[in-house]
Amino acid sequence: MSYLIVTSRCPISHEKIGGNETLKKNVGGVATALSRAMRQEGGTWICWGDGNMDHKYPEENYDGYKIVRIFLTSRERKGFYDDYANGTLWPLFHYFRDRMKLTSTGISYYRQINERFADAVAKNAKPGQKIWIHDYQLALLPKMLRDRGLDNFIMTTWHIPWVASEFYATLPEAKELLEGITASDMITFHTVLYRKNFLESCENILGKVTGIEKKLYTFSLGIDSQYYSGNPANRQNIELKNNRKLILSIDRLDYTKGLVNRALAIEALLKRHPEDARKFTYVMIVTPSRTSVTEYINMKKELEMTVGRINGTYSDLNWQPIIYLYRRVTDRQLMNYYRSANVALITPLIDGLNLVSKEFVAATKNGVLILSRFAGASFDLSASLKVNPNDLNEVADKLDEALHMPENEIQFRLESMKENVIKKDINWWLSKISSTAENMEGKIHGKPESAEYTP
Ligand code: G6P
Repeated sequence: MSYLIVTSRCPISHEKIGGNETLKKNVGGVATALSRAMRQEGGTWICWGDGNMDHKYPEENYDGYKIVRIFLTSRERKGFYDDYANGTLWPLFHYFRDRMKLTSTGISYYRQINERFADAVAKNAKPGQKIWIHDYQLALLPKMLRDRGLDNFIMTTWHIPWVASEFYATLPEAKELLEGITASDMITFHTVLYRKNFLESCENILGKVTGIEKKLYTFSLGIDSQYYSGNPANRQNIELKNNRKLILSIDRLDYTKGLVNRALAIEALLKRHPEDARKFTYVMIVTPSRTSVTEYINMKKELEMTVGRINGTYSDLNWQPIIYLYRRVTDRQLMNYYRSANVALITPLIDGLNLVSKEFVAATKNGVLILSRFAGASFDLSASLKVNPNDLNEVADKLDEALHMPENEIQFRLESMKENVIKKDINWWLSKISSTAENMEGKIHGKPESAEYTP
């Protein structure tokens, strides 16, 4: 089935770095999953050309499908991306009420840019082609397409949490966004909780709207488990001196990820279990993100001060508890880290899903996963060591438990989690969504149901 996909980020961008033009691939989990669908089926992908050389490629054919880019001026970028998408909606949908920016200009840029996407979709959609819209940057788009008279089957996939209805209602544009999204024929979430919160928001804010419940599905995004569990060429084991255990985390620099709390949990570990000192090294990989948004600039300073203070207090000439790496890592480096880590410490304060936890489970042969209860993936990975990331003592005690966990318990926990990530992998996710869409569309147009259909 060929889709017209719409996302804020493009699957590839063109960048000039040091005089050379290069093609940068978006390696995020969502982009990887959607690229696979496009490679298999062809289609069109509409997105925001943010690379500094993208203006040369308003349209291009890539990997068997067509990319169509829309462009933003720096004012539009600030209003749409910095102020509204990441300044208002991102904190709202992660329960950070105090960080929510409420400006009248943000929402007007957001409307304007959603309209620009709508024009591009209207121009490129083929009759009968399914339109698949992604995430919080494009919530108004489905209704804008209906307003332009498009009758294609529209699907929306929401990749971040949907908060409790009474919290969502604090957004001044709560009704407008819901009307935007519910113009879709099918809406999917990563967990049953987000689906439930969305339905309650519809009931409380839009009133009883018939048929909404039947449009809502829960399909948790999977990973390319074969890739992560396979044996890549040139894999290198990372070995720490004195048989120290490697504790690992990798995240975008984002206040939702609980990075400061995580560093404080390492400090709590050293206070509560001083015998663990010098027996581990925590490698905290943090990748730059949204560097034009003030909240993100401030959070970097806070994190670096905390890590510096803890290292300053506990290091000696031969050991430091936290190695902080602020940079992007290659796929191969990441795989080396996954395979070498004894413990993955994944403790976001809240996270729509968290694919790193699934990747680690697929890649590791004998690692322990410590996972926040507030990450969507904790619904899938029930044999992880679950923690409340706000409870530093609990995280510290689970770290101590993980560092000393017997091998048979490690394997027992891994077995059931591996089963889940292998069974519910990226192909499972794509085929569930596509067969559900086929059947829903069939019902709308009176076609017979296929045998695969399971709501
Ligand atoms: C999250 C969101 C995505 C977003 C990504 C990176 O995973 O769900 O929609 O693309 O973060 O953020 P950025 O602002 O760089 O697109």
